[in-house]
Amino acid sequence: MQRLLTGLQPSGALHIGNYFGALKPFADMYNTYESYLMVVDYHALTTTRDPKELKANIFNAVRDYLSVGVDPSKAVIFQQSQVQEHTELAWIFECLVTVPFLELAHAYKDKVAKGLEANAGLFNYPMLMAADILLYDTNVVPVGQDQKQHVEYAREAAAKFNNVYGETFKEPRELIQESVAVVPGTDGKKMSKSYGNTIPLFGTKDEIAKAVMSIVTDSSGEKPKNVYTIHKLLKSKSALGFIYEASMGNYKTLKEALIEDLDALIAPMRAKRESITDDDIRRILKEGSDRARVVASVKMATVRKRIGVAL
Ligand code: ADP
Ligand code: TRP
Repeated sequence: MQRLLTGLQPSGALHIGNYFGALKPFADMYNTYESYLMVVDYHALTTTRDPKELKANIFNAVRDYLSVGVDPSKAVIFQQSQVQEHTELAWIFECLVTVPFLELAHAYKDKVAKGLEANAGLFNYPMLMAADILLYDTNVVPVGQDQKQHVEYAREAAAKFNNVYGETFKEPRELIQESVAVVPGTDGKKMSKSYGNTIPLFGTKDEIAKAVMSIVTDSSGEKPKNVYTIHKLLKSKSALGFIYEASMGNYKTLKEALIEDLDALIAPMRAKRESITDDDIRRILKEGSDRARVVASVKMATVRKRIGVAL
């Protein structure tokens, strides 16, 4: 079985754009691989210094994935900070690559351009990510388009190490999830937490209703485009054809139908989410981190030997 590894950013509340664009495609395929799912809390430290927020977001990241159906008995779910081999290997890679090479990272440049502090952790981010991936002899790394270059960095780190110290790491490939169309927000632009135009993924029915009622509709008659585009993610074209014909031009009724269909999708996930306790998550992460460490420590023993520090 091929090995898959990906990193979950512990960050804020999710919206239905995240669900259809990332979580659902992931939940549909992860169990055809031997999957490692890692909460990248040390990466999060490059942009947050609020311990309470970081802790809450670690719990939330795991809760989100469990709520959409990821089964902890079918994937190793773990915390990056609890497997120290990650930061150890990152250091070794940092000693192999140059500053100009890291300066080419788009994600780093974008973040600094947006006003984030250019701390050294943010700069070295790709080498920690390379360590995350390479420690596990990962074959595939499912990521969004924006992370493609980071997987290339991991391949480069593997090649550099192998070149200097002999064949040790497998070169991974990215698995870009781009089959799903962009989900529009309530204003018709891409749904995004930074635009304040979201429908919350685990919202109450009232919250869903409030967001849906605020969807901007054009006045060109027929189908309200933004409502229909979201509705299409939930129901077949033929089922929708019937509803949109019967209520043509009646935007309120169409929005009410969308609220019902969204709630039918979300209610079970919301209930699942509420049933998961912090202790459940602690237990899952502990078991996962113990399992991940077994794999990572074997790899690191080889690495230490190869670089000449194992006496
Ligand atoms: P946001 O734009 O809200 O900050 P992120 O950039 O954190 O979202 O995206 C996390 C994941 O969710 C990515 O894989 C991204 O492709 C997916 N995603 C985010 N917004 C949408 C959207 N509107 N439609 C489809 N997928 C989306
Ligand atoms: N950089 C990734 C992101 O922002 C998160 C990440 C960290 C990751 N380590 C990883 C993704 C390893 C895949 C594999 O989404």
